[in-house]
Formats: sequence, C-alpha cells, structure tokens
Amino acid sequence: MISPYRYNDAWDDTISLFIQSHNPYDHYWSRSEEYALAIVRQQAETTPRRRFLDLGCGRGRLLRKFAPLFATSIALEPDPARSQIARHAAASLQNVRVDNCYLEQSPESGFDFVLCSHVLQHVPVGHEQALLNRIAAVLNPGGMLALITSHSMLPHDAFKLWSPEASGVVEQSTDQMTFDDLASRGSGAVVPTHAFSLQSLHTALSAFQIVRVHCFHALHKWNPSDLVFRDRWINWPGLQGSFGIDVLFLARKR
Ligand SMILES: C[S@@+](CC[C@H](N)C(=O)[O-])C[C@H]1O[C@@H](n2cnc3c(N)ncnc32)[C@H](O)[C@@H]1O
Repeated sequence: MISPYRYNDAWDDTISLFIQSHNPYDHYWSRSEEYALAIVRQQAETTPRRRFLDLGCGRGRLLRKFAPLFATSIALEPDPARSQIARHAAASLQNVRVDNCYLEQSPESGFDFVLCSHVLQHVPVGHEQALLNRIAAVLNPGGMLALITSHSMLPHDAFKLWSPEASGVVEQSTDQMTFDDLASRGSGAVVPTHAFSLQSLHTALSAFQIVRVHCFHALHKWNPSDLVFRDRWINWPGLQGSFGIDVLFLARKR
C-alpha cells in the first residue's frame, strides 16, 4: 500500500532553528513577515473578495488571517495530518473548506485571490512552473496571486541546503541536481531551498501583470541605515533584489 504524502516536519524544525540563529535583532523575523502580509491584505481589500484559495495551507497559519476577508475560502493541503490541523484552525470561520489534496488534483476554480506562501521553493525544478500555470488556470481574469517564496540576491536562481549543526543552522550552496534529489525525497533534516531571482520570477509569471514586488527577511547585522525599517529601504529603487531571503510578488492574471 502506498503511504499518504507527509510534508517533512523536520524541515519546519530546521527552519525555526535557522530563524533563531540568524534573526538580526529581536522580533525582526515576525515583524518583517507581518509587514509583507499587510501588503497582501491591503491588496486583498481592494480586489473582489468572493473566492479565496490558500494553496498549500499547511496547518492553516495564514488561512485564519485571510479567510475572514472573503465570502468563501478553499484551502488545499496534501498532507492529511496538516489538513486536519488546518480544519481545526479554521473551525470557527464561516464558509471555509480545507481539502486534503494537491492543487493539481483539485477540481476547484474561479478564484479572485490565490495565496501561495512558501510552497514553490521546496518543489523540484520545473514543477514550480506547472504550479504557476495551474494557478493562472484557476484564477478568474483579473484575479490576483500573492506569491511568497525564497529569494536569491544574485542575478540568477540559487540552490541552498540548510543543515542543523550544534552551532545553529549552516547554509551551503548546492547544485540543481542535489536540490532536486532532496526535494523529491522530502526526507531528512536538511532543508533544500530553491531561491528565485527577481528576473526568473518575472519570467515565470509572464501570464500575469506584476503589481508589486517586495523583498523581506534581510538578515544582515544592524547598521545605521536601519534607523529606517530595513524592509522599506531594501526595496528602494536600485537596492531592490540585493537584500532579503524572501520575496512577495503580487501579480494580476492578464
Ligand atoms: C512550507 S509549508 C507552507 C505552509 C503555509 N502556506 C505557510 O506559509 O505557513 C508548504 C506546504 O505546501 C504543501 N504543498 C506542497 N506541494 C503542494 C501542491 N502541489 N498543492 C498543494 N499544496 C502543496 C505542503 O504539503 C506544505 O504543507
């Protein structure tokens, strides 16, 4: 019998340890994410708010934040244990359904807004384009995608391994073949990450009109420029793309 798909919880543990060992100052990591999510929320508030899709909702962390903005919400999560937790997390919300399946298996479409947060960076290369094509297919014309994923500060994509060590989490560069192998196996505590350059996301999102790009989670040590909140200045023209290990794209289906 084939056992059901399980997302690797050990990756979450490694990622939490990475945040602890690389957070440049207290509360920066969560403040940075909240700032990015406020941009998503602002956009959601100005678009039609009928049908919302949380693609790869995990345990429903973001579903609880965004579902209340929409008349109807569907969340998709292929890991049965996670989808069950997400169902509990959303139990008090109206008109929210969590389906235990992959986007590729879901018959749902006609969405006004799709949130895809921290899904693309862990799928084997090539699969991310298939997911983006499917997202375009399930969105209504003019519908909005909020895509959050890992960001490469180089002019090209990068592949990384985050390994838990006694001293904290160590980041190493790797090649696409090793990344693909670890991402397909989805086991072990070493997290394989595909970090996308802004240019490659622009290309991958050619079916969309890009409305906003926002880099975040900049992990350099505090410096005097940080008298302005760093997530503002790292996105100023000329600097955007050079800082931040995560990125948000707001993209409207053409
Ligand atoms: C790192 S978690 C992110 C959870 C949540 N979106 C968040 O930001 O907290 C990625 C999730 O995407 C799910 N996932 C991976 N491939 C998927 C697919 N093709 N369709 C739907 N969900 C998928 C995984 O099972 C996992 O729970």
